Amino acid sequence: MYWFLLLVAVHSAACAKILAIAPTPLYSHQSVFRSIWSELSQRGHHVTLITTNPMKNPTLTNLTEIDISFTYKLVFEDHQMQYVVNTESNIVKLMAHVFFVMNNMTSEQLKHPQVEALVKSDDHFDLMVVEAHVPAWFGLAKKFDCPLIIVTSLPATNFFKGVVGNMHNLVYTHSFDLPFGEDLSFVQRVICVLFGIFDGIQNRYLLYPFQERIIRETLGDEKIDLIDIVQNVSLMITNEIPGFSKVITHIPSMVHTNGLQIQPPQDLPSDLKQFLDEAPNGVIYVSLGSTVKSYLMSHEKKFVLFEVLAGLAYKVVWKLEEKVDQVPPNVKVVSWAPQQDILRHPNTKLFISQGGLQSIDEAIRFKVPILGIPFFGDQFYNSIRVKELKLGSWIELHTLTKEKLKEVILETVDNSTYLKNLEEMSGLMEHPLKSVDKAVWWIEYVIRHKGAIHLRSPLAGMPFYQYYLLDVGGFLLVFFIVGAFISLRLAKLAWKQFRQRTFTKVKLQ
Ligand SMILES: *[C@@H]1O[C@H](CO)[C@@H](O)[C@H](O)[C@H]1NC(C)=O
Ligand SMILES: *[C@@H]1O[C@H](CO)[C@@H](O)[C@H](O)[C@H]1NC(C)=O
Ligand SMILES: *[C@@H]1O[C@H](CO)[C@@H](O)[C@H](O)[C@H]1NC(C)=O
Ligand SMILES: *[C@@H]1O[C@H](CO)[C@@H](O)[C@H](O)[C@H]1NC(C)=O
Repeated sequence: MYWFLLLVAVHSAACAKILAIAPTPLYSHQSVFRSIWSELSQRGHHVTLITTNPMKNPTLTNLTEIDISFTYKLVFEDHQMQYVVNTESNIVKLMAHVFFVMNNMTSEQLKHPQVEALVKSDDHFDLMVVEAHVPAWFGLAKKFDCPLIIVTSLPATNFFKGVVGNMHNLVYTHSFDLPFGEDLSFVQRVICVLFGIFDGIQNRYLLYPFQERIIRETLGDEKIDLIDIVQNVSLMITNEIPGFSKVITHIPSMVHTNGLQIQPPQDLPSDLKQFLDEAPNGVIYVSLGSTVKSYLMSHEKKFVLFEVLAGLAYKVVWKLEEKVDQVPPNVKVVSWAPQQDILRHPNTKLFISQGGLQSIDEAIRFKVPILGIPFFGDQFYNSIRVKELKLGSWIELHTLTKEKLKEVILETVDNSTYLKNLEEMSGLMEHPLKSVDKAVWWIEYVIRHKGAIHLRSPLAGMPFYQYYLLDVGGFLLVFFIVGAFISLRLAKLAWKQFRQRTFTKVKLQ
């Protein structure tokens, strides 16, 4: 009897119903979360996952996937997102388009028949885990009345740090969408603050209200308050690279992971393996990631890259989504590349990358110097940081010329300074606990305790003027000014009196 009760108790704690939602159509995001979903299901939890990149792994019997991969077509074909992202340098225009597409995407995803059935069902869930950047989905936590965990494949933004009550500073932890490094000039610091204010306002007064309207309509619940829900999240799971990402104080409910996307080594396809093995001078690997499609680079720039690479003594593996007619003999064009295994290969000497966080993580881990060609988002910040930390260099696409590119490649490839720094930094990635175990431990902790309200920071929900001490600072400033003014008047009065008295005395004498 005793045993039976114990078994039941263990069972109920060990096997929860989890609703996981990863709505962003970006492989680099999805690949980070996948290990969490698999691990949860393998530990006996029943996970229902709404995702744009289903794993379709038949061995994961406790994982039910709802496939919303139609989002890729919607975002990248119907709304041409990548053209805006790659060619639009105007950040306001870019944000406006992202904003429009995100709301359209969310509405369409919620209308997907399987999603709609789930959302309208009376199912019960013990926990929801949702990707951070599409807030409408948070509203389901109210309907299912369960704790909420948010996950992101990036470090937390200032907006999130603000709402969950983590320390942040508009300059010190400036937005990674700004193309600034660590040493900031006065003008750059002013831009950081203005950008931070703008970003905060657009999240709070534009994105959240719009997303709130979408989820209120879907659920027929006018009382959903997304800011209130996000201020009460149990945990935020983030992704950072030790030694690369900013060092900052974090509250206990901010759980860091890194390298969740790393897979065990696998054999390369035989033709690729042979190409890499038979490269006495080494190999340069070129991939501009899964979002920046290479065909978006102008022909002129691509030609520059091809010409320079063809003239080098190195072999080149280039991940390119288009057909190329005249491929130079030292270049191999592949439409898909097992990136981690290519970077693991001892002959790989340089990684020409768009500078996405996951690519940088992999380059550091496998000790390959980086040459960044950033396009958008955090790629500029990451590339500048690569240069600052002497892990490689970066080059701007606008200013790319044959001479310059060749010079930078030769300086970066096989550079002993970079190799030494990469060696050191990859060593910093060790942890007492594997990232996936850490994430899952904390997720199960929230399941066991039905939330983590005791971890809620007192700063969550604090008005910004209190957080920045504007009220206290303002009061003290006024107090001192008035005090100084009164003291000055009194001193003047006393001086007048004194002079008058001495003057009369002198006159009398
Ligand atoms: C599925 O979950 C059950 C418990 O709910 C567990 O016993 C089983 O091992 C899990 N299956 C897989 C393939 O992880
Ligand atoms: C989203 O955009 C598509 C393509 O432009 C359009 O057909 C659809 O009606 C939009 N959906 C919503 C809910 O606005
Ligand atoms: C969030 O937490 C606050 C303070 O504990 C509470 O007043 C509020 O009702 C909570 N909101 C939700 C949606 O749980
Ligand atoms: C290697 O990188 C360092 C630091 O950027 C640079 O000073 C040096 O010139 C490079 N070495 C070579 C051989 O290019």
